[in-house]
Amino acid sequence: MRDTPSKRIAIVGPGALGCLLATALCRTEREIWVLDHDSRRAALLQHSGLTLERAGRLDHFPVQVTADAKLIGPVPLVFLCVKSPALRRTLPTLLPLLTKKSLLLAWQNGIGHLPVLSGAKLPCTVVLAVTSLGANLVGPGRVRFGGKGATSLGFLGAASQDAKSALQEVAELFRMAGLEARVETNILAQVWNKLLVNVGINALTAIHDCENGELLRNGETLAVLRAAVLEAASIAQAKGISIDPDPVERTMAVCQATSTNISSMLQDVRGKRKTEIEGINGAVLEEATRLGISVPVNAALFASIQGLEKGYLSK
Ligand code: PAF
Repeated sequence: MRDTPSKRIAIVGPGALGCLLATALCRTEREIWVLDHDSRRAALLQHSGLTLERAGRLDHFPVQVTADAKLIGPVPLVFLCVKSPALRRTLPTLLPLLTKKSLLLAWQNGIGHLPVLSGAKLPCTVVLAVTSLGANLVGPGRVRFGGKGATSLGFLGAASQDAKSALQEVAELFRMAGLEARVETNILAQVWNKLLVNVGINALTAIHDCENGELLRNGETLAVLRAAVLEAASIAQAKGISIDPDPVERTMAVCQATSTNISSMLQDVRGKRKTEIEGINGAVLEEATRLGISVPVNAALFASIQGLEKGYLSK
């Protein structure tokens, strides 16, 4: 028998992170539904389920997968795991899932999604989820665990007391699923802490077609990583955002913890998809231009990825 809708969680987008979260949450008592805009893949995954590869083990998870949000209906918890370039077209399709009591957790990298979410007239409460979990999609519905990482959760805007209690329950649910999670009052600082990590890792791994750990073993890439992160940190400081100290060391630590991971941007480039560059190094460049600060390393990384995208998207 199916659970009541109040136990249902909708995960939007069966990419690497969406599949990883879905498999982790299958360990809780919740009923997991995946929403996929691609109806053919949805039918395939509904039939074959999701597979998690971790430490040489393969685990299989049957989940409900559909391309029709109305089949899922209103749910208390929605995980929005599509990449930031797909956000604008995805948000209107979520309306059948959302009520004023729903929490919508947005998992995008960078900062490009913030104005899109703030500007969308959604009936629910929006939560920003910032994670350094690593995940690689190795086939449809098949995800390889790419490294442990903590997740921070916090509200995009004002939140009611009920929403605050609901978010504490979400953090508890994460712990039950074996994931590290905490609720933050200043989530914007966490968004920028993560942005700095993505600024240093994502474009560089995509340009050099290498695993995250490789950046640490090559003096040249390490120097670019350092310079890109320091430039972005200077923008955060100029904006008065209280990022954590030692952003370069933190970025290097993430490279180490996810050393065999293929970054999400490299996965996008290999899959010939539009990347999140505009919301990462592109957003740093945009903020810097507004502030009259020069960020040549971020500008160069932005231009290189745009060049790569142009090469395969125009075909
Ligand atoms: O975008 C990614 O790939 C991830 O955010 C991270 C943490 C860089 C790991 O690969």
